[in-house]
Amino acid sequence: MSRVIVVTSGKGGVGKSTCTASIGTALAEAGNRVLLIDADVGLNNLDVLIGVNDKIIYDMADVIEGRCRIKQALVCSDDVPNLFIMPSQHAYTSEDIGMKNFRTLIDRLRDGFDFILIDCPAGIERGFHRAVAPATEAIVVTTPHISSLRDADKVLSILTNYKLDSVNIVINRIRGDMVVNGGMMSADDISSLLRCRTIGVIPEDDNIHIYSELGRLNSSDYKARRSFISIADNIISGKRRIYDPTVEYRGVMGKLKIILRRA
Ligand SMILES: Nc1ncnc2c1ncn2[C@@H]1O[C@H](COP(=O)(O)OP(=O)(O)OP(=O)(O)O)[C@@H](O)[C@H]1O
Ligand SMILES: [Mg+2]
Repeated sequence: MSRVIVVTSGKGGVGKSTCTASIGTALAEAGNRVLLIDADVGLNNLDVLIGVNDKIIYDMADVIEGRCRIKQALVCSDDVPNLFIMPSQHAYTSEDIGMKNFRTLIDRLRDGFDFILIDCPAGIERGFHRAVAPATEAIVVTTPHISSLRDADKVLSILTNYKLDSVNIVINRIRGDMVVNGGMMSADDISSLLRCRTIGVIPEDDNIHIYSELGRLNSSDYKARRSFISIADNIISGKRRIYDPTVEYRGVMGKLKIILRRA
């Protein structure tokens, strides 16, 4: 029976799809059978991030409406064995896939995977509830910016209405140099503010954007990748080893780095 983890945020554009693809990749590379489900119906882009968009023939709607078998709609990553995606189609509107159908779909998939990661749409409307309803755990992605923190707080409060085994936050786009200078909240401050445990911290890393555009998010090496691997380790082991983005900006060499970054 798989662990079903919904990756959500409230605010759009904070890194849900990036986290779903990258944490899923790290879980699969650790030997787990992992399925990524794109619940951002109508605006899906998970398939693009992991470079399988050209391989899609059937999608979630085809399975729900009986036009294909489940296995026919699962697309396997070329780069990571054990990593699969269930795509949702652009043409589909949010109203078309109901909560009950979505939950039934997840139930049918549960025996085949160790982890199912659901990429939630932005907002707290119907699409949000449809994505959260079948989950057993939630990860709320936030950036250190006020608007994102406010929405994460709202989402965390809505999630208390669901029976979830665990709810954790991932803090994305942290800049260690700004935290050291007092220009950005630290991960500990954010965790206390949101009254929620942090399962991972991801640095700002231009390579995420570049490799996403190339569809190579799961086949390239870049600084933030180590954070995703440690989040996957924490999910598997229940431990809390959190990347500290300020380490490289401490001491004389660290200060020098900050000065050079400003120049
Ligand atoms: N740590 C990071 N460093 C740099 N860029 C990042 C980082 N995380 C995400 N991004 C970039 O931010 C943009 C939004 O990310 P993403 O699509 O994952 O967000 P989202 O929450 O899924 O958005 P939406 O709500 O629209 O579904 C993308 O261009 C992505 O490459
Ligand atoms: Mg997204």
